[in-house]
Amino acid sequence: MLSLKLLLGTVLLAATRVCLARFSGSAMEGMETAENIQREQIERLRSFLGPQVSSDSGYTARSTSKIESPITFANPRAKEFFVDGTSIPDVNFDAGPSWSGLMPISGHPNETRKLFFWFWPTNNISNVRDLLFWTNGGPGCSSLEGFLQENGPISWSWGQSEPTPNPFSWTNLSNVLWVEQPVGTGFSQGTPSISNDDELAAQVAGFLEQFLEVFGELKGSNFWVSGESYAGFYVPYIANYLYEHPNRDLHLKGIWIADPSLTWGLVQQEIPALRFAQANKNVFPFNSSFWAQLQNISDSCGYTDYLDEVTYPPKGLLPLPAGATFNETTRAVGVKPECRIHSPIQRAVGVINPVFDVYRVTDTFPNLWSVLGFPRSTQQFVYFNRTDVQDVIHAPHINWEDCSGPVYINPATGGPGNDQSVASTLSVLPNVIEKSERVAIIHGLADFILVAEGTRIAIQNMTWNGKQGFHSPIEPESFLVDNMGVFGNMHTERGLTFVEFYYSGHMTPQFVPWAAFQTIAYVLGKRDSPSA
Ligand SMILES: *[C@@H]1O[C@H](CO)[C@@H](O)[C@H](O)[C@H]1NC(C)=O
Ligand SMILES: *[C@@H]1O[C@H](CO)[C@@H](O)[C@H](O)[C@H]1NC(C)=O
Ligand SMILES: *[C@@H]1O[C@H](CO)[C@@H](O)[C@H](O)[C@H]1NC(C)=O
Ligand SMILES: *[C@@H]1O[C@H](CO)[C@@H](O)[C@H](O)[C@H]1NC(C)=O
Ligand SMILES: *[C@@H]1O[C@H](CO)[C@@H](O)[C@H](O)[C@H]1NC(C)=O
Ligand SMILES: *[C@@H]1O[C@H](CO)[C@@H](O)[C@H](O)[C@H]1NC(C)=O
Ligand SMILES: *[C@@H]1O[C@H](CO)[C@@H](O)[C@H](O)[C@H]1NC(C)=O
Ligand SMILES: *[C@@H]1O[C@H](CO)[C@@H](O)[C@H](O)[C@H]1NC(C)=O
Repeated sequence: MLSLKLLLGTVLLAATRVCLARFSGSAMEGMETAENIQREQIERLRSFLGPQVSSDSGYTARSTSKIESPITFANPRAKEFFVDGTSIPDVNFDAGPSWSGLMPISGHPNETRKLFFWFWPTNNISNVRDLLFWTNGGPGCSSLEGFLQENGPISWSWGQSEPTPNPFSWTNLSNVLWVEQPVGTGFSQGTPSISNDDELAAQVAGFLEQFLEVFGELKGSNFWVSGESYAGFYVPYIANYLYEHPNRDLHLKGIWIADPSLTWGLVQQEIPALRFAQANKNVFPFNSSFWAQLQNISDSCGYTDYLDEVTYPPKGLLPLPAGATFNETTRAVGVKPECRIHSPIQRAVGVINPVFDVYRVTDTFPNLWSVLGFPRSTQQFVYFNRTDVQDVIHAPHINWEDCSGPVYINPATGGPGNDQSVASTLSVLPNVIEKSERVAIIHGLADFILVAEGTRIAIQNMTWNGKQGFHSPIEPESFLVDNMGVFGNMHTERGLTFVEFYYSGHMTPQFVPWAAFQTIAYVLGKRDSPSA
């Protein structure tokens, strides 16, 4: 992202220079000023790309000096997992030492189910007692996406021509463990055997026990669980399981979840969809007859005034709108076909903006390529599908895809199935907040696959620490980023912090790494407030 912006900026400046040569004089003074401001801005941008970037021709030759790990492992088995940070394909800088490979989910000698992990030590010795677990969502999406495009020490994000060091890597704050889970995801091995997230959590707990046998120096760590999207199910269930079945070698302290699935799609997609499109009209530029059709659906399905009834404190449990269906057998809440409004909006905007991205609504033509082939396909290689990459990180030679599956089985038939778990705000999340020191829920305001205002509804309908919802309103302009100023809204009450980020789509550490960094630093206890 950043390096593409830099590139575009350079092209723009070159073009502007040609114009200025032809039209010098006071008439063009405004353009000249704009050009200078842009030049200053691009200068500032360089600092976001990290220390190793040279100003013009990219990286110099690969460094021979080796970064030392603040932690070493005595168990000889650890050596099998070691990754030399100067030998990672296409990474033209010393990324430092790390450990990766497959780890079984139990100590059973014939265990066939193994999760792929990549462990990176912190670059700051003061954080060496801290261990942060990261998982992407899906279900079935790889945590290596988070590693390479969101919060890892190496960034190869959308549109970047080559990997760069990530100055906002979460390894600045803690040891970090990226895990491809559950079984059926990424490089992980074995046949999926779970049908809910208690079972998922039990497998993660088994994996962690095996991991700590090899990496024994990490026993006794403070521990946090983090993730995004469908990890709104995974992370609270993993934390809940660990609180109910404590691992004496890990001291769980809290969780961080961003743009999470917290409740029914009706709540996080349908109810807030129209208001979201109206508030972002310049990227949802519909014609008036289509707006009228949408308004009609919204009015007749009970969405239009719904958000005004979500108060601080709430007046009581929040009712389901007229558009809801309820299945007496499964107790699942769905949407009446004529009350679907999110998909019609997404389909219509995709016609007038051919590269509309439901994960970040501000994207416009052209399409940014992704070295992971997600969310867009790409003409280039998929990084983790390359055998040279797989060899260096001790991964099996298999067809790797960013999102794969199925990862759940149908308990009745044993065939592919869906997650049978009840969403976390209606089940385990209250217990996790009550047992944690700090819990953060984050939401990007430019995300449309799950909408921030829907997350507010989910929070206001949840009861934790003896009360329902936040009792004071989420103050606008209350979240500030260091050196940037107001960057969104936040609120903390009874152990739960909610933060909304400007400029961010679904993958918050990818799109606004500075903002995500501050909030994870807060959860890890490295700062007193997420806000500057
Ligand atoms: C492991 O598998 C082998 C061969 O398949 C079998 O002989 C052995 O009994 C199994 N061990 C256990 C503990 O199940
Ligand atoms: C290392 O971490 C400590 C504790 O969080 C912090 O005070 C210090 O500023 C960090 N050092 C660097 C170089 O970031
Ligand atoms: C993270 O650590 C690197 C290396 O010490 C440093 O250059 C960078 O500024 C740090 N980032 C933040 C956000 O503190
Ligand atoms: C609104 O919906 C009603 C029935 O659902 C329909 O008769 C009417 O034509 C619709 N109006 C618009 C503007 O789509
Ligand atoms: C709010 O929570 C109650 C109790 O858990 C549930 O019955 C109701 O459907 C929820 N409302 C929404 C909008 O999710
Ligand atoms: C309720 O869910 C069950 C199980 O998925 C399904 O078989 C049944 O048709 C559903 N009932 C209705 C009224 O949709
Ligand atoms: C108005 O927008 C709708 C939805 O995008 C589209 O189906 C319809 O053709 C549009 N009408 C005109 C006149 O462009
Ligand atoms: C992954 O690599 C295999 C060959 O090693 C190839 O057949 C497959 O198409 C690749 N998949 C993607 C998504 O690039």
